[in-house]
Amino acid sequence: MFELLPKRAQEYRQRARQVAESAVRPIAAELDRTGEYPWPVIEALRAAELMGIWIPREYGGQGAGVLDLCVVVEELSRACGGVGVAYAVNALGSFPIILGGTEAQKQRWLPPVASGEKLIAFGLSEKASGSDAGSLRTRAVLADGHYRIDGDKKWNTNGGAASIYTVYASTRPDRGSRGISPLVVEKGTPGFEIGKREDLMGIRCVPVHELHFRDCRVPAGNLLGEVEGRGFGNAMQTLDRARPGVAAQAVGLAQGALDWAMRYTSERQQFGQSVMSFQSTQFRLADMATEIEAARQLVWSAARSIDEGHAGASKYAAMCKVFASDVAMRVTTEAVQMFGGYGYCRDYPVEKFMRDAKITQIYEGANQIQRLVIGRALTKEAAALGDTLAVKVEHPPAAETAAEETGS
Ligand code: CAA
Repeated sequence: MFELLPKRAQEYRQRARQVAESAVRPIAAELDRTGEYPWPVIEALRAAELMGIWIPREYGGQGAGVLDLCVVVEELSRACGGVGVAYAVNALGSFPIILGGTEAQKQRWLPPVASGEKLIAFGLSEKASGSDAGSLRTRAVLADGHYRIDGDKKWNTNGGAASIYTVYASTRPDRGSRGISPLVVEKGTPGFEIGKREDLMGIRCVPVHELHFRDCRVPAGNLLGEVEGRGFGNAMQTLDRARPGVAAQAVGLAQGALDWAMRYTSERQQFGQSVMSFQSTQFRLADMATEIEAARQLVWSAARSIDEGHAGASKYAAMCKVFASDVAMRVTTEAVQMFGGYGYCRDYPVEKFMRDAKITQIYEGANQIQRLVIGRALTKEAAALGDTLAVKVEHPPAAETAAEETGS
């Protein structure tokens, strides 16, 4: 493949590939079976100086971009989707601070995440507010220099493993999404409990938990940015930056499944020849490889649009997530099919790729929400086209239309 990655991203990719092959692939099946957190991988990532690379240099990070983050996530996910998200969710958790924190807040919470000493998680979703994030019910009330938080969060990835949590709560319920504020809550704060662990289909080494807040008091200074009501915009901007990471996870999973499908079909003999030598197999592999490459290029271009501050970045982030996750689901399912009965059992890793891939169509905004974001952007673009296109849509008079519809 013609190399389109800038030098820095190539270097990150190389380093991530080494960690994936030496520290992730050998234990991926075991992690899936036991559901244990991949602490040895976190250590290997720290040693390779890959933790927190997206954090600005002044806060201990490497000032890397979303593109760099994506290439690392892709390489890790190629070996294990669970490890890919265990790493990427630290970006999701720290973007709210990078985007909305004061200087003092960044100095306080970012350096330990940059070094990998502490993990961080993101708390937005609740039982009754998933896609409709603006309707969240967790409350934060300011009194005596503290916010008192009450409520519950759902689907908290890295829950329990993380030491720092960015949590969205309503400080003004009468203002709807404009009354939402982001707060930082540290593990161990009285009134903050890690709840039930979800029993998931895939990404099984990553703990996904409920979080409970009961009369949980944090200092007023834990309100990100010190101004209430900016939480929803902060969450949306965060998701714009993080969704390419989910897309990169999907590309890695698809590539990982394709690697196994190529290997298996070239070795498996049926009817006196390798399965890969059948043209029908080659055509299927060709489609898989082509779709993966298209998804990868879309992820890279979306990531670059964010790194370069392009105005349409939200749309591209949504596009790459939709496209790459749908590709991952098609490719991993096809890989299972190519393995036949072996694909359906745990002796081979392809069924894990398929289970891990499914979540990429769901989390950080279900794909229907991504299509909504894209559709809204297109609606604005259509309005902006104005009279530049010489298309005149004729609207018949209302009476005529009604007559046509009733057939009279
Ligand atoms: N950037 C900045 N601001 C934005 C924005 C963006 N991308 N999108 C919307 N906003 C602003 C709007 O400008 C508007 O501002 P004003 O109130 O000042 O006018 C405000 O936010 C409300 O915007 P909308 O009317 O468009 O909001 P909406 O209620 O229609 O919702 C939505 C939009 C796209 C559906 C949004 O709710 C959404 O993204 N939902 C999915 C949430 C999601 O992805 N959740 C998964 C979280 S991940 C997780 O919790 C699990 C984990 O650990 C991985």
